[in-house]
Order: sequence, then C-alpha cells, then structure tokens
Amino acid sequence: MSQMFSNKHELILVVDFGGQYNQLIARRIREQHIYCEVISYRTSVAEIVARKPKGIIFTGGPDSVYLKNSPKIDKEIFSLGIPILGICYGAQLMAHVLGGEIAAAKDSSLAEFGKTVTHIDTHSVLFRGMSDTTIAWMSHNDYIKRLPEGSIAIAHTAKCRYAAIEDRERHLYGVQFHPEVNHTVQGSELLKNFLRSICGCHADWTMESYAESAVKEIREKVGDGRVLLALSGGVDSSVACMLLAKAVGEQLTCIFVDHGLMRKNEGDEVENAFADSGVNFIRINAAERFMKALAGISDPEKKRKIIGMEFIRVFETEAQKLGRIDYLVQGTIYPDVIESGAGDAAVIKSHHNVGGLPDFVDFKEIIEPLRLLFKDEVRKLGLTLGLAEELVWRQPFPGPGLAVRIIGNITAEKVRILQEADAIFREEIVNAGLSRSINQYFAVLTDMRSVGVMGDGRSYDHTLALRGVTTSDFMTADFARIPYDVLEKVSVRIVNEVGGINRIVYDITSKPPSTIEWE
Ligand code: XMP
Repeated sequence: MSQMFSNKHELILVVDFGGQYNQLIARRIREQHIYCEVISYRTSVAEIVARKPKGIIFTGGPDSVYLKNSPKIDKEIFSLGIPILGICYGAQLMAHVLGGEIAAAKDSSLAEFGKTVTHIDTHSVLFRGMSDTTIAWMSHNDYIKRLPEGSIAIAHTAKCRYAAIEDRERHLYGVQFHPEVNHTVQGSELLKNFLRSICGCHADWTMESYAESAVKEIREKVGDGRVLLALSGGVDSSVACMLLAKAVGEQLTCIFVDHGLMRKNEGDEVENAFADSGVNFIRINAAERFMKALAGISDPEKKRKIIGMEFIRVFETEAQKLGRIDYLVQGTIYPDVIESGAGDAAVIKSHHNVGGLPDFVDFKEIIEPLRLLFKDEVRKLGLTLGLAEELVWRQPFPGPGLAVRIIGNITAEKVRILQEADAIFREEIVNAGLSRSINQYFAVLTDMRSVGVMGDGRSYDHTLALRGVTTSDFMTADFARIPYDVLEKVSVRIVNEVGGINRIVYDITSKPPSTIEWE
C-alpha cells in the first residue's frame, strides 16, 4: 500500500553485503549530491540493469568469500559496462568471482585493523589528485592473494600487496580499506573520483530539486483527493507537513494531538509554526483524557501502551469527523526503510511514533514523502521549504513525551515541575553555546525524595536528573561532558525557581548499558 517515490535523478546502487558501514556509504554518496539507494545482494542483475544506475558500489561484509554460504553476486554484473567499486568484502568478492584468489589473513598474520599507511598509484583515475602516501582505515581478516586476470594493483601497504585493484577496461575497482570512514584521510576524494570521473555523475541531487519533483508527484497522485497527516511537531512530521502543504494546500488536514505531556510551551510553538501554512490545522487538547488514563500507572511499558492507545482513539475520533479521507501521510525516513527486515532485535522499549497509524482510519493509500531521505536531508529539506529553525533543529522527543521522563506515577503537579526544570536546563545549554554539540538533553523527574535544607528548614523533595548525550545515530551514545560551571548554574536556577526539587544529579552513563531515556 505504501507509495515509493520515484526518482528521476542519476542513480548509484549500493549493494549491501551486510557490512556495518552500509548506511554510511550511502550518506557519503548523498553528501556529494548524488542520489543512491541501498539494495540487497540478492537483487537480480536484471533488476539492477532496469534501474539504469550510473555506478555500483559493493559494501563490506563480515563473511569470507570462499565459504559456501557467504553472500555472492552473479558474474554477469561485471560485464555490463557499469562501473563498480568494491569495498573490503566487496573488493574480495569481485576478485574472487573474476578468478582471483582470496585467503585468510589471520593465518599468515596479514590481517590489518585501524589506520594504515597506504601507498597509492595516483595515475589511476580512482586516486587522481590525491597524495601518493596516505592513511586508510583497514578492517579485514581476509586478503586478495592473487589478482584476477585483467586487474592490476593500484595501492599497497606494508602487509597488503593488493590494497586497491583496478580493471580499467571494464571500469572495475576494488579497495581493501574503507573510504567511507572518516579515518581514511582522502576517502571522500576517492569516492568523488569514482562517482564523478569514473561513473560520470554530475551531482544533481539537491533538496531544492527533490522538493520540486516531490511536489509535482504529490499533486499528480493526490489530484483533488483529501489528505490527512498526524503531526507530532517532530522534524519528520513537520517537514512532511510543509511538503504536503506546498503540494496540495487546503486539501491537507493536520491533526496535532496535544497529550499535555509536551515540553513547556511546546504545544503552542507547534501550533504557531503551522498557523500560516495554508493547511487545515486541528489541535486537540487532550491532556485531561491522557492524565485520567495514566492515573496511578508507574510501569514504563504500561505507560507507553496506554499513551499509544489513547493517541489512536483521539486521532480516530477526529479523523472520522472529517468524512472522506483518501491519503494518509507517514513520515517514514530512509534509515527505517534500510533497517526494516534487519532481524529480530529484542524489544527494549515499544516505541510510539505518531505518524504510524495506518490501520484505523479508512483511506486509500499511504503517502511517504520522506521515504528516500536521511535525517540530515530531511532537515535540509525543511530549511528549503521555510520551516522554522526551532523545528528543523528540534532534538528528538519520544512520542509518549514527559510520561517516560517522570519515573513512577504521573500527576499534573509532576508534569509542571518537570516542564519548568527542563526548560531551565535547555535554556542554559543554549546560553552556553552547547545546543548543537550535545545531541539530546533533557531533565528526568525521579521518584526519589530526599532530605535537604532550604532556608532554615528541612525539605523533603524530589530528586531531578539531568541527561545530556552525544551521539550520531541514537543507537549508541556517550554522556555529554557538560562543563561544571554550566551544571552549577542549572542546578542553582532549578532549585531556586521551580519548587519541589531539592537535589539534582547528572547522569554519567553511556548507551549501552543505559538507554538515552530513563523509561
Ligand atoms: P532510547 O531511550 O531507546 O532512545 O535510547 C533512543 C532515541 O529514541 C527516542 N525515543 C523515542 N522516539 N518514540 C519516538 O519517536 C518513542 O516512543 C521513543 N522512545 C525513545 C529517544 O528520545 C532517543 O532519541
């Protein structure tokens, strides 16, 4: 049912062999303003040809090409005349399929890990304009022992004779190292040489051009139909809203369910951001209903489930009032697309994402206008479409909101205390100029009380925890090294200004073993 946006830009296909850097490779290509997609190594050669790629990149992978069940590729792909760059496992696979020999490096102590001095042949187009001795990031247990016919070595290291190979006639290139990783000093030059000089890409992928073609496609698709969008105020649903607003204006209705568990003033900020966007904007103030449903509940998973269910009910009731709906918008982004089908990871927390509501409103089709974009591209698109900077750079906020930042049962008073304390923390982080370097920061109201002395009297009040993390993917994270003087200022202000808090702690755990949110 979901709609895949077609793409009319020049295309690079990234064939995924299970490497840990598959997304990173795709992002590095997009950063060069060239559109790419990650596809499975199981994709048939006919399908690949049908997509008309300007070039193909094979990712690394954990396997050994000489093992029976390791991922392989049809030999035919090498005779299509489409340039191919194999990275690590991808390079070994290319050499193996073309008749070279791959061996285990462990046995002959030829394995290489980390930054490695690499000598390159700058006559090769792949290395054009680069300095001939460079640092490359290695991570391999196997190595190319014998080259396939037609290939020559174009780089070597102290341990590795064939650190890069080239079959110029067939436009085939392989590198044993990882150009996509920042530790490879001239990695982006290498990718640029491959994409521009070897594949002949012109770099036509910009968010302006994407917005233009997406708007056109949405108009064609929607016609005079009616579109519904669940707006959370998060960057994805906000950008999707702006794009749909531009495409179909008044045919779009946005429903913003304010569950009363947003950060201080946030509900109003979201409303104001969309007030003049030309869409029908409906804000439902459902705080009372959510508080009632959550009364006395302290189990984190129960809280999440209740909020998810209440959300759906409120949304459904409002959607029904609108009458006929033809399309429902979802803010799915490309990492979700790549990761879906990635396996059965244990459920740590049941995430609730507004925007994921396909089953309970009657509609014809889902529109996913951000399905091809990485997060940084979504932000760029938002700026291109004129979305307010605060929303473009808004830090992630969990769907269940402050409910999972109040440990134990939730009361209106606790919500108020947390909103005030959190606002002060965020304000001081901005004042200290740290808001872009700390990726997520917020306050948590613990269910612990402790004794303090305020004025001349005894107090017995809440302990507040502050959390700040640095991360690039939110899958792993490190606690942010916030300077003590900033923490001190925050602590003094919160205790003096908020009331109900007499002790403040800073969370110094990383993820793993912790998670970013406390619940
Ligand atoms: P954890 O706590 O699992 O969080 O380390 C990772 C990131 O996800 C955010 N988060 C959520 N986002 N719905 C969301 O849309 C949710 O239910 C949810 N729970 C956590 C969290 O803020 C962090 O950025």
